[in-house]
Amino acid sequence: MTDERIAKRHAEGKKTARERIDALVDDGSFVEFDAQIEDGVITGYATVDGRIIALYSQDFLVKGGSLGEMTGKKIVKVMDFSLKSGVPLIGLNDSGGARIQEGVVALSQYGEIFKRNVRSSGVIPQISVIMGPSAGGAVYSPALTDFVIMVNKTSNMFITGPDVIKAVTGEAVAMEDLGGGLTHSSKTGNSHYLADNEDDALDYVKALLSFLPSNNLDDSPVFQATESMDFSPSDRALDSLVPDNANKPYDMRILVEALLDEADFLEVHALFAPNILVGFGRIEGRSVGIIANQPSQFAGTLDIDASEKAARFVRLCDAFGIPVITLVDVPGFLPGTEQEWDGIIRRGAKLIYAYGEASVPLITVITRKAYGGAYIVMGSKQLGADVNLAWPSAQIAVMGAQGAVNVLHRREIAADPSVAATLIKKYEDELLNPYIAADKGLIDAVIEPHQTRRQITLALRALRNKRVDLPTRKHGNIPL
Ligand code: HXC
Repeated sequence: MTDERIAKRHAEGKKTARERIDALVDDGSFVEFDAQIEDGVITGYATVDGRIIALYSQDFLVKGGSLGEMTGKKIVKVMDFSLKSGVPLIGLNDSGGARIQEGVVALSQYGEIFKRNVRSSGVIPQISVIMGPSAGGAVYSPALTDFVIMVNKTSNMFITGPDVIKAVTGEAVAMEDLGGGLTHSSKTGNSHYLADNEDDALDYVKALLSFLPSNNLDDSPVFQATESMDFSPSDRALDSLVPDNANKPYDMRILVEALLDEADFLEVHALFAPNILVGFGRIEGRSVGIIANQPSQFAGTLDIDASEKAARFVRLCDAFGIPVITLVDVPGFLPGTEQEWDGIIRRGAKLIYAYGEASVPLITVITRKAYGGAYIVMGSKQLGADVNLAWPSAQIAVMGAQGAVNVLHRREIAADPSVAATLIKKYEDELLNPYIAADKGLIDAVIEPHQTRRQITLALRALRNKRVDLPTRKHGNIPL
């Protein structure tokens, strides 16, 4: 390996495969497998913040990191090691794909890798970092893992590249637009985090690991609790978070941060479907997953992307025993032919499925709108939530006041438009409040906003040993 090639990579903002390992793991902790087989990948195990992980790091400087028979066998060996030892698997990807000279033998190794990705799913956390090219069918190993992290400007993923697209369809597209980090983090949702550079990507891996257990039978790491149960200024500030005008947006992130230890929220999929927030935090030092409608983006409506983003996150938390806290302010599903024809029915159903099968503690807080099907979908009592709370500003109903009055009083309003305002006010007073749901037991308590963190903390303590027995089955059939 020449110094010039390494210097060229450094100038491009890329580390070597071994430098990446050094940047990820605890100093001196890396134990290498198969060091004498130098074939485009480095594999082994190490510790990150004192906890064991297994990893592979593709070496672009050896045959373009392409995957030949022995490259595949090394990766398969470390995957088997991580699954049987119950430790997370981190893949640092930088490869020209299947080694052309080795043909079907190279392809077959991808099959072995994919099978192990699938069988490890929900057993050990699998994290993929894309730090260079990831092309063709090779993209499917990262796609099968729990998290994909891409480095901005220096990584790409695509099934067919710009040249093939141009030849087949005549469409001209630049590599970065087609499959760069920004495209996959904002448009396709294939990437969960867009890193500024390689160090940022590896720091995000470390942060993710701090919230995750080593495997599905283990608990997530427990940190020192940092907050007291006394009401803090950020708790009190919640009392004025929701504007009086129901159509005015506000930033749900303020509530998310107020609930979490040190206001520390590790957002996942931040650039994709921003109308819903998902990510990790801690309460009393223990990991929680947050799913929250974001009223400041498209009024917090649920669309296909938001449904799939949230569904996948609920399932991730459920697989790894992380309680889910759902914060609801949702006017409904996004209307329109585009959404209907793109499959909002079957794709929105994923979110119902995810909540309906989840057996981890589920706590839901309605801050404002919870209308129609979206109310049921977003962690309602009926889907299996354990504790459902609502703020006095909550509006739980089939639809908003304007829509309801239009349906119920169309003729009266047509005859005399001036009655509309009175009818809307009457509907708001009589039907748009949380007390009707509370009277029916669908909400466990209506609480003042400043009490939210305290109530959630108490519920999490009470639910720590929650057990649910679901019927035995081979597996369910989630709408895909
Ligand atoms: C063998 C490969 C290779 C490959 C790159 N190299 N890809 N060798 N098989 N797939 C070698 C190059 O010949 C070169 O060798 C060295 O790696 C560096 O490559 P360069 O092309 O010089 O680098 P760069 O200009 O940075 O371009 C990188 C690249 C390009 C964009 C990845 O190499 C490329 O397009 N490669 C082919 C990508 C591809 O289509 N792969 C197949 C995907 S399909 P020397 O000796 O000159 O240094 C697939 C199927 C998976 O993977 C199936 C799963 C079911």
